Amino acid sequence: MSFTGKRYEFRDKAADYAQLAEELSGLLHGESDLTANAANTAALLFDALPDINWAGFYFLKGGELVVGPFQGKPACVRIALGRGVCGTAAAERRTIVVRDVEEFPGHIACDAASRSEIVIPLIAGSELVGVLDIDSPNLARFDEADARGLERLAAIFLQNV
Ligand code: SME
Repeated sequence: MSFTGKRYEFRDKAADYAQLAEELSGLLHGESDLTANAANTAALLFDALPDINWAGFYFLKGGELVVGPFQGKPACVRIALGRGVCGTAAAERRTIVVRDVEEFPGHIACDAASRSEIVIPLIAGSELVGVLDIDSPNLARFDEADARGLERLAAIFLQNV
């Protein structure tokens, strides 16, 4: 397989996320290994999304979140449910968009460069599997269009594991 990353400008987020969704479907097609698909999903997102410094997964293991495949600087390994942005999104089972990490009580700083963040819970049927976490060095990098687009990508990931 050779991968040529498309350069997205994200001026039309809905259209670009739709195209990225097709790209992700193609990338994961025919493979169901969780680690392999999480690694390729993180790599695709880190390559395609502008202005981000971390993209990856935390998976629910033994009642807490444990870091999975990601791109970016080394990260905190374990996060309790309800703690930080990741633990809150997992516990409340909802996407959380943080415009300014300094304004999110309990935010866990892994990379000091991170200024804003989005976390999407991964729910298969009724089961919480983990979260998809993306950080940016820019304030207010993520909005509702990112939330909807990334939720679509998370759903494609879940269909393939
Ligand atoms: N900031 C996250 C921790 C994970 S790192 O950003 C990779 C949080 O508050 O849960």
